[in-house]
Amino acid sequence: MMADKSNESDSTSMDTELGRLVVDQQLATQEEVDECLSLQTHLTERDTPKTLAEVLIEQGMVTERQITRVKTNIEETHKGQQIPGYRIEAKLGRGAMATVFKARQLSLDRAVAIKVLPRRWSENAEYVERFYKEGKAAAKLNHTNIVQAFDVGEAGGYHYFVMEYVEGHTLHDELAAGKVFSEDEALEIIRQIARALEHAHNQGLIHRDVKPKNIMITESRQAKLADMGLARAASDAETAQAEAGRAFGTPYYISPEQIRGEVSIDFRADIYSLGATFYHMVTGRVPFEAPTPAAVMHKHLTEPLLPPDHVNTDLSLGVGEVVEVMMAKDRKRRYASTSDLLLDLEAISAGETPLQARRQIDAEVLSGLANQAEPALPLDTEMLPQATGGDLLKVWVILLAGALAACIVLIFVLLLSKGS
Ligand SMILES: Nc1ncnc2c1ncn2[C@@H]1O[C@H](COP(=O)(O)OP(=O)(O)OP(=O)(O)O)[C@@H](O)[C@H]1O
Ligand SMILES: [Mg+2]
Repeated sequence: MMADKSNESDSTSMDTELGRLVVDQQLATQEEVDECLSLQTHLTERDTPKTLAEVLIEQGMVTERQITRVKTNIEETHKGQQIPGYRIEAKLGRGAMATVFKARQLSLDRAVAIKVLPRRWSENAEYVERFYKEGKAAAKLNHTNIVQAFDVGEAGGYHYFVMEYVEGHTLHDELAAGKVFSEDEALEIIRQIARALEHAHNQGLIHRDVKPKNIMITESRQAKLADMGLARAASDAETAQAEAGRAFGTPYYISPEQIRGEVSIDFRADIYSLGATFYHMVTGRVPFEAPTPAAVMHKHLTEPLLPPDHVNTDLSLGVGEVVEVMMAKDRKRRYASTSDLLLDLEAISAGETPLQARRQIDAEVLSGLANQAEPALPLDTEMLPQATGGDLLKVWVILLAGALAACIVLIFVLLLSKGS
């Protein structure tokens, strides 16, 4: 009897939650849900009980698929509620891999955000080890522009990542609404994230997934880098593929070396991704656009970047130069450190020349001159090792040949003047 009662109340609370979500997600109106609820009561009275989901589908208010999605949502919320020490208050969002909840940490009575990872990730022992290691390293970071990592743990077979709750929205939300940032406005955000990265990079931590969705913006326009220290289960390129079909998905910001699946990913991958984010903010376009994620990634590897100041002619040459160096396909041609990048970001914010980028571009021009006699390169040159040593040798040969020619001319002139 007791069991029956609890089953009954379980299904009633499921119906209440389902009805609320159906209205929240605008799948049906409150009136339509109420109509189905009274029909449901009528059916129960006639001893042919049905769930609200069944009635909604039968009445053509929602499709079976929509109901499955709503039910998955409810189940996920419930699984989050089983984390000891926290009370789940709301669902904040869902990315390609995980669900994020707003919760209250009961011991400290503070709001936190909890990311609950998919159960299947827990089956990979190597991943779980990395998850704890990186979580621990991230918890040691302390920076106003980094979403603070608080805790990592496991409950009921789910691993979770507890972090600072940020009241605000993501940079992605602003871009998706069609906002094109002025140079100054973009620099305000990019400089804050570059400072966050400098702090992390100095402690040896690489983010690997810098993108507008991982940049949160508060009411007072403070920018905070999210997911710092959150280990990913798959390779970067696989994670990017998992976002297939999603607008503004990962492949728009991923670095060429991550696409190639290189193992020694370093801070320069984050600089590339921040450059791609900067590009998007000031031009209103992602740097490389194509119909499929694979095609976008191919362009990151092979297609020359259309400089942002050519897309938006209001931009200064300085911004163009900085983005060009941040997004160099060969990481050796990017900034040598995040601190160097910050020097340039400060310089262009003050209307000065970005000296670090200028130096890099000058070196490039020089090596380009030396390369002029070379035959056309194959399409995927980035796949090949860069021959910088060879480039330098060519510059030296040209310079020595020039000097030799000048000497010969000088001797000739001297001999002539002596003769006359
Ligand atoms: N610390 C936080 N405070 C408040 N909201 C957050 C926080 N972290 C994430 N969110 C919200 O949760 C949403 C989902 O985050 P999540 O990291 O799972 O996915 P994503 O970054 O959008 O995409 P991806 O899965 O590709 O990383 C975010 O878009 C954001 O709105
Ligand atoms: Mg995220």
